[in-house]
Amino acid sequence: MSQLVSEGAMETAVHPTVTGAATPEDKQVEAGLRPRSLSEYIGQTKITNNLSIFLRAARARREALDHVLFFGPPGLGKTTLANIIATEMNAPLKSVSAPAIERGGDLAAVLTNLQEGEVLFIDEIHRLRPQIEEVLYPAMEDYQLDIMIGQGTAARSIKLELPKFTLVGATTRAGLITAPLRGRFGIIAHLDFYSQKDLEIIVHRSAEILSVEIESSGAKEIARRARGTPRIANRLLRRVRDYAEVLSDGRITQTVARRALDEMEVDRFGLDEIDRKLITAIIEKFDGGPVGVGTIAATISEERESIEEMIEPYLIQIGFLNRTPRGRVVTRAAYKHLGFPLPRVEQDALAS
Ligand SMILES: Nc1ncnc2c1ncn2[C@@H]1O[C@H](COP(=O)(O)OP(=O)(O)O)[C@@H](O)[C@H]1O
Ligand SMILES: [Mg+2]
Repeated sequence: MSQLVSEGAMETAVHPTVTGAATPEDKQVEAGLRPRSLSEYIGQTKITNNLSIFLRAARARREALDHVLFFGPPGLGKTTLANIIATEMNAPLKSVSAPAIERGGDLAAVLTNLQEGEVLFIDEIHRLRPQIEEVLYPAMEDYQLDIMIGQGTAARSIKLELPKFTLVGATTRAGLITAPLRGRFGIIAHLDFYSQKDLEIIVHRSAEILSVEIESSGAKEIARRARGTPRIANRLLRRVRDYAEVLSDGRITQTVARRALDEMEVDRFGLDEIDRKLITAIIEKFDGGPVGVGTIAATISEERESIEEMIEPYLIQIGFLNRTPRGRVVTRAAYKHLGFPLPRVEQDALAS
């Protein structure tokens, strides 16, 4: 039990159970749970249908696939898709995280070492520095690297040919990608939260890989509370498995799943303590909003970025929170779910 709290809390500032960001434990088990091919990849069918056509066409032409940009909250399967693209193209994959690329030279080194057809995956691509992003433009467009040599009046730029490669970028923040960068991707895909049905299938698949016995009612319960996110579904599955092993015979029934999830304070919408804290703060301190996200962050002592990246998207998706030009507003559904009386303006509006 002490594990339950410590693992997540250590690395993710936000909270142990329902953040989409990967904990160290997630990273360890995810390798085994990750779908390896498009046919194993569950849901997101619009994206996988399109990708499969583009992949087939690129293979037939023996060309590198066009550059691909994936948008979507953490844990929805962006890294998985990058891996699948490389596998399906029968090409090697090089993964880098944008914050790790500190200088233009770092990126140049990566680019010049690529093989023909290689897939270069840049995670968190919205965090590339502007000067580094500029190195990427000619590389993406013409497979060329512009290098400046010499200084002052003697400075000149030379062009290096690069192998034809596919850049796959992933970002959790659509709004933070610059227009010139976005414009250089031929394929742009926005990952949505998963349906309950798809999450059930994912839970069953993972249970099978982990050799856990699970009833479909148990899988349903986990899927319902997984915030539309495969990573969270897999994480909840592992925690529920712990309960099932300790408290009964290891089989995940609906009763065991409910009890475990209740105990973990993940409610029937998948909200946990931090979500409730955020909504409650907006209701109690700001009359339901509108209130700026910076103010919310300060009020509940969370990082603004974590709120925008991991907490808000799902609350917006389920209709508990609205983003307006003047700030965040809690919806009536959220008032109801948390058992608050409707705000006065709402009551007045209803009465008239
Ligand atoms: N479509 C999917 N089908 C099955 N499992 C998935 C799918 N997408 C993601 N997962 C699971 O969720 C985990 C997190 O996915 P990942 O690709 O790392 O997310 P992201 O890069 O978007 O944060 C993976 O290890 C995998 O087990
Ligand atoms: Mg990832």
